[in-house]
Amino acid sequence: MRTLVVYESMFGNTHRVAERIAAGLAAAGEARAVPVAEATDEALEGIDLLVVGGPTHVHGMTSARSRQAAHDQAVRPGSGLTMDPDAEGPGLRDWFDQRRLPHACAAAAFDTRMHGAPALTGRASKGIAKRLARHGARLVADPESFIVDRDNHLDDGEAERAGAWGASLAEACRSAMTEGRHG
Ligand SMILES: Cc1cc2nc3c(=O)[nH]c(=O)nc-3n(C[C@H](O)[C@H](O)[C@H](O)COP(=O)(O)O)c2cc1C
Repeated sequence: MRTLVVYESMFGNTHRVAERIAAGLAAAGEARAVPVAEATDEALEGIDLLVVGGPTHVHGMTSARSRQAAHDQAVRPGSGLTMDPDAEGPGLRDWFDQRRLPHACAAAAFDTRMHGAPALTGRASKGIAKRLARHGARLVADPESFIVDRDNHLDDGEAERAGAWGASLAEACRSAMTEGRHG
C-alpha cells in the first residue's frame, strides 16, 4: 500500500503529527509525509491512500490572512515559536483548488487545534474532509484532531496517538479496498 501524507504547518506541530502518521502507516507499505508544495501530481500518482492535515485557524482551514497572523506571532520577540521550514509555501486551500486527486482514492483528514469542544475551537479537518470528498476521494475514517497547548506545543501523548491513528488508517484502507473489490 502506498500512502502520501500531505501537511500544512506554520509552527511545526502539524508537520510533526504528519511524520508520526506516516511512521504509523509504514508497516503497511511505503508512506511519506510531504509539505503542500511537494504534493505534486507526480507525488500523487499511484497512491492508495491520501492523508491530508493542517492547523485550525479561525475555526477552520487557514487563509492568507491567518497564515500572515501566524507568521507575525512567530517573529514577535520572545514568542518561543519557530516557523516550520515549509511555512511560507502554499496552503491547503490553494492546493485543493489547483489539484486533481487520483480517481476514487482512499483518504482521511486531520488537523491540529487547541483544547476545547470542537464546536468552540472549530476543526480544519472538517473543511479538509469536505474538499477530499468533493474531489471524489473515499473517506475511510472520521476527521481527527491532535491537540496543542496555549503555547502552541503538541500535548503529551499526541505524537504517539498520531502514530496509532496512522496504523489504524492502514487497516481501514485495506477494508475499504476489499469492500470495493466485492461491492
Ligand atoms: C491566526 C491563528 C488562528 C488560530 N485560530 C484557532 C482556532 O480558531 N481554533 C483553534 O483550536 N486553534 C486556533 N489556533 C491555534 C492553531 O490551531 C495552532 O497554532 C496550530 O494547531 C499549530 O499547528 P502548526 O504548528 O502546524 O502551525 C490559531 C492559531 C493562529 C496562528
